[in-house]
Amino acid sequence: MAKKIIIAIDGWSSCGKSTLAKELAKELGYLYVDSGAMYRAITLYFLRNHVDWTDKHEVKNALDAISLEFILNEKSQLGEMHLNGENVEYVIRDLVVAEKVSDVAAIKEVRKFAVNQQQQMGKKKGVIMDGRDIGTVVFPKAELKIFLTADNAVRVERRFKELFEKNPNVTIEEVKSNLEMRDYIDSHREESPLRQADDAILLDNTNLTADETTQKALKLVKKVMSSN
Ligand code: DC
Repeated sequence: MAKKIIIAIDGWSSCGKSTLAKELAKELGYLYVDSGAMYRAITLYFLRNHVDWTDKHEVKNALDAISLEFILNEKSQLGEMHLNGENVEYVIRDLVVAEKVSDVAAIKEVRKFAVNQQQQMGKKKGVIMDGRDIGTVVFPKAELKIFLTADNAVRVERRFKELFEKNPNVTIEEVKSNLEMRDYIDSHREESPLRQADDAILLDNTNLTADETTQKALKLVKKVMSSN
């Protein structure tokens, strides 16, 4: 049996990271971890409990009260984010959370809290994790690092379609401005900003279908596996 590896997928918002990661996980029988869901769940907790995240003490107390767990959905065979025992997988995708998540994810203590747990999940390898700092900070020694990208307009269109299915009141302008704002904050923050790791492979899927993207990535996986 092939040796298990860690696959890190980073990139801009809505460029298909989670779609690719889920497909690869299915193909390889690996665990998929959506690291963004952790930052979203923390943000949801902060919003619900009116935590002033500019106050270090409030952040510390809030983090002490947060338990995050991915619990397998038997039907989809994917982990769903649970916050203090509540399934929040659906509600964390809301625009209300998306509007604040980049601010919360920029907080040093929040990152430490999440990265610690992410590194634990990778201990046994056989993991595919997507996010913004997976190849640079969480798993700097990951055997395969993919940096996914796509043109802005394509990314806005994709996210709009996804959100519109859940909420027909959402507008394309709202989605566009949220995406631009998050990309800016995520790539300009002081703590582990989004950037392509030096040894990451750039994969632009602007003109690729989800399946074509998966096939390209699978070729990269096979190459790495055969040399490990
Ligand atoms: O992948 P996503 O859109 O669900 O991520 C939500 C936000 O969380 C994103 O705007 C930036 C932040 N994030 C991060 O800072 N580091 C990660 N590893 C994953 C997400």
